[in-house]
Amino acid sequence: MKRGWLLRDDIIWQKPNRIPSGVADRLNNTYEHVFHFVLNRKYFFDLDAIKIPGANGRMKNPGDVWTVNTQPLKECGHTATFPERLIERIVLCGSPKNGVVFDPFLGTGTTWIVSDRLGRSCIGFEINREFFDFAQGRFKENRAFEQCQPTAL
Ligand SMILES: C[S@@+](CC[C@H](N)C(=O)[O-])C[C@H]1O[C@@H](n2cnc3c(N)ncnc32)[C@H](O)[C@@H]1O
Repeated sequence: MKRGWLLRDDIIWQKPNRIPSGVADRLNNTYEHVFHFVLNRKYFFDLDAIKIPGANGRMKNPGDVWTVNTQPLKECGHTATFPERLIERIVLCGSPKNGVVFDPFLGTGTTWIVSDRLGRSCIGFEINREFFDFAQGRFKENRAFEQCQPTAL
C-alpha cells in the first residue's frame, strides 16, 4: 500500500444474532471485516492471549472467522456499537498489558471500557458530542461497577 500499511489479517466478524432483514432481492448481510494492518514487519502480537481450546484438548489459534453476537446499547441512539467480546480479543492480542490503545472512532466507548478493564490506557476520538458524553458516562459506570465487585479470596 502507498502509505506502507501491511494487511496481516482480514478477520470475518460473523454475527449469529443479526436482526432479520426485509430484503427480498439479495442475501441478508451477517458479517463484517476486521482488518489488521501494521506499519512494520515486526510488531506486537500476543497469540497466546487469544488461543481457544482445540479438539485434542490443547489450545489453538482461533483462526480468522470470529463468531460473536452483536451487543446493542438501547439507551443511546448509536446503531453501530461493537460487542465487548469482539474488542476484548483485539485488545488482548494487539496490545501489551499497560500499553496504549488508540480508537479514532470511539462511538459509545466500547474500546475505552474494554481497554481499561484489561489494564491498558486508551486514547479515542469521537466527532459526535452526544456519543462522547454517553461514552464518558458509560466508562464511569463500568469503573464503578468493577470497583464494587468482591475480590476473590
Ligand atoms: C462504527 S462507530 C464506532 C462504534 C464504537 N466502536 C462503539 O462500540 O460504540 C464509528 C464512530 O465514528 C464517529 N466518527 C465518524 N467520523 C469521525 C471523525 N472524523 N472523527 C472522529 N469520530 C468520527 C461516528 O460518530 C461514530 O460514533
